[in-house]
Amino acid sequence: MDIQLNNVSYTYDANTAQPIHALASTTLTIQSGTFNAIIGPTGSGKSTLIKLINALLIPDTGTIRIGRKTYTHHTPPSTIKELRKLVGTVIQFPEMQLFGQTVEEDIIFGPMNYGVSKDVAQEIAQEKLQLVGLDNSYLTVSPFDLSGGEQRRVAIAGILALEPEILILDEPTIGLDPKGQKALLDLFKQLNQTLGVTIILISHQMEQVAQYAEQVFVIEAGRLLITGSPQEVFTWDNFASQTGLKPPAVMEIARDVADTFAWPIDNLPLTVTELADMIAKHMKGGSDER
Ligand SMILES: Nc1ncnc2c1ncn2[C@@H]1O[C@H](COP(=O)(O)OP(=O)(O)O)[C@@H](O)[C@H]1O
Ligand SMILES: [Mg+2]
Repeated sequence: MDIQLNNVSYTYDANTAQPIHALASTTLTIQSGTFNAIIGPTGSGKSTLIKLINALLIPDTGTIRIGRKTYTHHTPPSTIKELRKLVGTVIQFPEMQLFGQTVEEDIIFGPMNYGVSKDVAQEIAQEKLQLVGLDNSYLTVSPFDLSGGEQRRVAIAGILALEPEILILDEPTIGLDPKGQKALLDLFKQLNQTLGVTIILISHQMEQVAQYAEQVFVIEAGRLLITGSPQEVFTWDNFASQTGLKPPAVMEIARDVADTFAWPIDNLPLTVTELADMIAKHMKGGSDER
């Protein structure tokens, strides 16, 4: 299901002397089944945007449409609860929300809260635990005895147990080592490709964005600056000056290499693999000419 925001605004502390206009009349579409990234400097409104999409915040103005359901400032709470089930959200440091005495208790809570029987919820728990790379021996363990990385996987299994069609990830890999980061992102990619889950990833790591996202939304001071493919966004001339962010380092290296050898380039490489391909292609071309 597509997500459509139409002129959505949100202000914190609206009725005070110092209202904070976190998001200003934003219009955007996120297409069903795609892998999206939201980037922007700290305080630009990224978390506010996703809290509007998952109905944790209700827009002051404008409409949000998720599939066939539309909601606005006036939508009743019962509809909001239905919407929340469609959109799973992995908040920053999701392990902070673990509460169960065992891993199983933690994971079955969500489905049971939505009326799933305990037996079925237990089956779901096993399945989702496996999906995040943990075997059944974890079910009976206290989540508080696990490592930080394992706790995060359990928390993510708990979100997946609701079988959301849209999965929002607010800096999901923060604090993990590179191997753990890759494992998680690969899992999200797999959910996207095999189940068609729409992914919305907030990340400060431009390399991740370049590698995993199809569509990038750049937010600055509560406004959508630009949206497009990683290629379009990162090669936008004003990217660094308007956002204070740095495009992937690989892109700069690729530009230098191409300049040095006067290689024509259609698309600047954004990932190490693309850079290696570019070099291989030109080296091969060069040796053929001789
Ligand atoms: N609960 C809140 N109360 C008041 N102001 C908030 C609250 N949450 C965020 N803000 C403010 O709203 C703006 C956008 O914040 P946020 O959406 O968290 O940005 P980001 O996720 O891009 O860092 C910032 O100015 C932030 O200080
Ligand atoms: Mg944030």
